[in-house]
Order: sequence, then C-alpha cells, then structure tokens
Amino acid sequence: MNFSFAKNKNAIALDIGSSSVKVVQMSQTKRGWELVKAGFAELPPEAIVDGSIIDSMTVTNTVKDLIKEQSISVKDTVSSLTGHSVIIKKVSFPAMSEEELADSIQWEAEQYIPFPIIDVNIDFQILGADTEGRGQMDVMLVAVKKDVINDYTNVIKEAGLNPVVIDVDSFALENMMEINYPVVPGENTAMVNIGASITSISVIFGGLTIFTRSIPMGGNQFTEEIQRQLNISFKDAEDLKTGKKAEAGASASQAIETVSTNLAFEVKRSLDFFLGGSQGSYVNKIYLSGGGSKTAGLPAFMQDKTSIPVEMADPFKNVAIKGKEIDRESLKGMAPFFGVAVGLATRRLGDR
Ligand SMILES: Nc1ncnc2c1ncn2[C@@H]1O[C@H](COP(=O)(O)OP(=O)(O)OP(=O)(O)O)[C@@H](O)[C@H]1O
Ligand SMILES: [Mg+2]
Repeated sequence: MNFSFAKNKNAIALDIGSSSVKVVQMSQTKRGWELVKAGFAELPPEAIVDGSIIDSMTVTNTVKDLIKEQSISVKDTVSSLTGHSVIIKKVSFPAMSEEELADSIQWEAEQYIPFPIIDVNIDFQILGADTEGRGQMDVMLVAVKKDVINDYTNVIKEAGLNPVVIDVDSFALENMMEINYPVVPGENTAMVNIGASITSISVIFGGLTIFTRSIPMGGNQFTEEIQRQLNISFKDAEDLKTGKKAEAGASASQAIETVSTNLAFEVKRSLDFFLGGSQGSYVNKIYLSGGGSKTAGLPAFMQDKTSIPVEMADPFKNVAIKGKEIDRESLKGMAPFFGVAVGLATRRLGDR
C-alpha cells in the first residue's frame, strides 16, 4: 500500500517482527543490488503479541536505537505486515485494465473481505487472464486492517522515520526470490518463512505469488515445548534452542522433534490444499527463511515429511556486500532473518 507516489530512489526496509526488528538498506547499481546496511535488534517477548503492537514505546525505542546504531540517515521506510491482520485471497474478476480495477476495487472486493470494507486498506495484483476464457481474470486481493497499519506506521513515525510503503511479508519474499533466483518456468516454488509467532507459506509460479497462507506457529512453539518438557524458563529454553547455552543434562531434541513434526504437517496440509485447487501440478521446491528455519535439523525434517526438496533461501545470493561495517561471516548466519527485509528493500515508490 503506497502512501504517496513521489519518486524516491532511497528507502530503507524495516521488518518489525514479533521477536526482532530487522533493517536493511540496499542500492541498485548497473552491476546489480548492493547491501549498504543490515541491522538486527531483539524485542522482548511481550512487546508484540499475535501481530499486535502491545508496547509501542519499547518497539519505537528499539527501532530508534537500531537506526542510530546503523548510522542510517534515509527517512523513507518500507515495512510489512503478516498474520491475521492481513487477508490475501485469489479471486476472479471481470477482465479489465489495472486502472479500471483500481477505480472499482472497493466495490469488487467487498464480498470477499470478512471485515467492513471501511476498516481495511485494499491492494491487488493481477495474475493474468483466466485460462477458461470467460472474460474473467485472476486477481490476488490483499486487505489489511487499518488500525493495525496505523499502529505500525505510528511506531515508524515516532521513531523519526517516514512510512512510505506497507507491504505484506509473502510479497516481500517474492521480491527477495526475484532478485536472487531465476524463475523456473512451469514450476511451483513454495516459500516458508518461519518467524517467532507466525509461519507464512506461499507459492510462487512464473515469478508471481499465487497462493498464501499463514499459520500461527513459529519459533516460539519450539521454545515453549522445550520449556514445558524440561520445566525451565522461556529464556533458558530459548538459549538452549538457539545454542547460546550448551546443553547440560536434559536435551531439547525431543521437544524440537515434536514441534518440527507439527510444523511440517501444517506446511504439508497447506501445500496439499493449494494443490487440490490446481489439478495435476505439484510443488517442486520449498525455500525456507525466517529465524525459526535455523532450528537444528528442521530443513531435513521438513524435506522428509513433505517429500519435497527443501533448501534454505539465501537473500544475499545475488547481492554484493558494500557496507564497510558489515561482517560477511556473521551475515551468513543471520541471512535467514533478512529474507523479508531484503525483499522490502527492493521496493520503490510507484512500483506495484
Ligand atoms: N539458532 C536458532 N535456532 C533455532 N531458532 C532460532 C535460532 N535463532 C533464532 N531462532 C528463532 O527465530 C525466531 C525469530 O525469527 P524471526 O526474526 O524471523 O521472527 P520475527 O520476524 O521476529 O517473528 P514473526 O515474523 O513471527 O512476527 C525466534 O523464535 C527465535 O527463537
Ligand atoms: Mg517475521
């Protein structure tokens, strides 16, 4: 959703997740994309819950400190939302131009949105003509609750930045893939972004997102299961899971396997649902991103349970590292966190 259409080549990407804030600045040169800044700051578990900002002061200060730490002077900010405040639906509309649809989208969309249309911002992406030739076209309809947009834009403004675009995680991931991986014609590529509280699943075909689904599960479920099985604090369970603390005695592996099984099952279920709606096709590959994808053994587990090849997405695969302060070695380990932010950083005002 664009707030203004002024041409601006310099914007930063801010991914405000429920467990951490990620900031990325990139520039596009003749040689391709270059990474100028990449920063990460943790949030306390109670600051954002279920995609809602509970403690806006803490989130604002975390963003402010991160911008300062990274010496970022650019103000225009592209950010994104995910989870239950975002509704994405593939719908069929009478064939018309993008301009015509933009004019009538409020009316056309109303019947598909489970909230009063006045409470949401609507955006869309035309996926191309309906193959059955009934004068219809497929459209990805995106609706985001205005109050949630307001909460996030207020934090961005309070932090001294200028919100210019609010995107959706799965579309940001589509952009991240576009700059790093070639489109394989005729193949369905699944993106699974495992955050702390939300896992977003999407399918990209021919470079466009044709299916999305988000499930309220992520890294937190692993931590909570470790906490429950070993009867330790959330903090200790988190440290054990991320390897910050070495395992002494009891092991987290049983809890990790339990939750990995559930998560892999949910991913498979979503992809099966997608395939049920598009006959004779299958998913060729799953790319993982998000901090939760760093969970020990998870990629192999996911591959085993879904019978689909699984690979970690590298958001910096095709990106030259320019920023002097960026440490390449630590960036490698942090790459899963930056999938959404890199995609957002490729967005420019006036794009659709
Ligand atoms: N080494 C690791 N092993 C396992 N899990 C990890 C590791 N490092 C981070 N995580 C988990 O990754 C999650 C955070 O990932 P990410 O930053 O992508 O989420 P987020 O964007 O803050 O959350 P969301 O998108 O759900 O709002 C946390 O649950 C954290 O415990
Ligand atoms: Mg996230």
